[in-house]
Amino acid sequence: MKKITIAIDGFSSTGKSTIAKHLAQVLNYIYVDTGAMYRAVTYFAMKNNLIGDGFFKVDELIAKLDEVELKFIYNPQVQLAEMYLNDENVEQQIRTLEVSNFVSNVSTISEVRKKLVEQQQKMGAEKGVVMDGRDIGTVVFPKAELKLFLNASADKRANRRFQELINKGDVVSYEEILENVKSRDYIDSNREDSPLVVASDAIEIDNSDMTKEEQFEKIYQIVQQKLQEN
Ligand code: DC
Repeated sequence: MKKITIAIDGFSSTGKSTIAKHLAQVLNYIYVDTGAMYRAVTYFAMKNNLIGDGFFKVDELIAKLDEVELKFIYNPQVQLAEMYLNDENVEQQIRTLEVSNFVSNVSTISEVRKKLVEQQQKMGAEKGVVMDGRDIGTVVFPKAELKLFLNASADKRANRRFQELINKGDVVSYEEILENVKSRDYIDSNREDSPLVVASDAIEIDNSDMTKEEQFEKIYQIVQQKLQEN
């Protein structure tokens, strides 16, 4: 069967990566978590003292972008590709609330976006890819055969994220997570370069009141239909 490109965009913590991973597994496609790439650049900026509370040395980050090498390497133990920054596995480090607090600002920088978008387009050049992010259906693969746009209420999303972080043992409050979700929504939707918008040909799904299984069922049916059409 001909392979297609599946673009999954949406607000933060809408479960894009869960659904994308599951689809890629079932279809035997490559999965690319583009948020992890923006998070890794953010982690790089934090480590190099280029971003922190009250400061962001944008020009210095841009000047250092050539020193950022990102790779996904498959870990058979967890059956997932993990994010490497300059040969260091940063999968854990990029999932902290601190990185979440700075990542939207780093993602507004056009030079950062250009570098990552080029890499993403190479990774998906052969199709057979499920990619999730904010601009996949609009900028990275505007010709993707299937575009999904996920949404859920800010409260539901903050709750899901809160549970995830608490389960990992992180010390966080629900209020700070909700604040982070809302502020990322705002920055991601209002930035000048590649803002988060629904592509005109995307299928929108609000999963506020769906279980993971219900959502997968619905999306899998849409995918099957697309595969038959192509
Ligand atoms: O999907 P995520 O929450 O891990 O993404 C983290 C941030 O990265 C998100 O707030 C905005 C940015 N991002 C982006 O601008 N474009 C993408 N394709 C993916 C993520």
